[in-house]
Amino acid sequence: MSISLQKPHRKAALILTLALAALATMPNAISADAATKATSTDREFIEMQTSLNAIMVAVVDWAAHEVWEAGYAETMTGRNWLTAKQYATELLAAGTLVSLGGTGRADMEWVSDPAWQEWTAEMIANTEDALRAIEAKDQAALVMAGEALVVTCEGCHQAFKPGIPTEGIIHVPHHEYGDPLARD
Ligand code: HEC
Repeated sequence: MSISLQKPHRKAALILTLALAALATMPNAISADAATKATSTDREFIEMQTSLNAIMVAVVDWAAHEVWEAGYAETMTGRNWLTAKQYATELLAAGTLVSLGGTGRADMEWVSDPAWQEWTAEMIANTEDALRAIEAKDQAALVMAGEALVVTCEGCHQAFKPGIPTEGIIHVPHHEYGDPLARD
């Protein structure tokens, strides 16, 4: 499979080129202006190489369970808090992946629905709360963020998730989900 780069819209590219040319004549003025003109889609990016179903199982579900477990753990060592932070960071990054869609047959239709983006934004907000709780080593706050997160997972699943996952990839039992990174 070849990796394709998404081309920015021509008009946006032109504006960006003009802005960059202007900046080139003012070496100290990088920045604010260019940053407000260019949105994150005004540049090339690499399309997702896997399906949302696989991302749910291999990244979202995995990372979220670690965050929930940290909330309910009897004791948390410094190392445990670092591990929790690592998984919460993984979940935070996964939020953007979920908003982009993937190779699954229903993925692009799902991500074009505004409700999908709202649920994803909610998942990101819950994860940010979890990260703040982890940074403060506050388990009670982590449990609260975790509980809000479950409501979000379930809300989006109720709205979008088919009874049988489109790629047949489920989280339990693990030996049945085959290769979670299968792409075709
Ligand atoms: C924006 C919507 C959305 C959010 C938010 C979301 N999911 Fe999903 N999830 C889906 C959809 C849709 C599927 C089914 C994908 C398919 O069939 O291709 C799915 C599938 C799954 C699956 C695989 C199917 C299964 O039943 O085993 C797991 C596991 C999963 N999600 C866990 C989670 C967890 C945990 C969270 C929250 C931390 C979460 N999801 C948040 C939409 C979402």
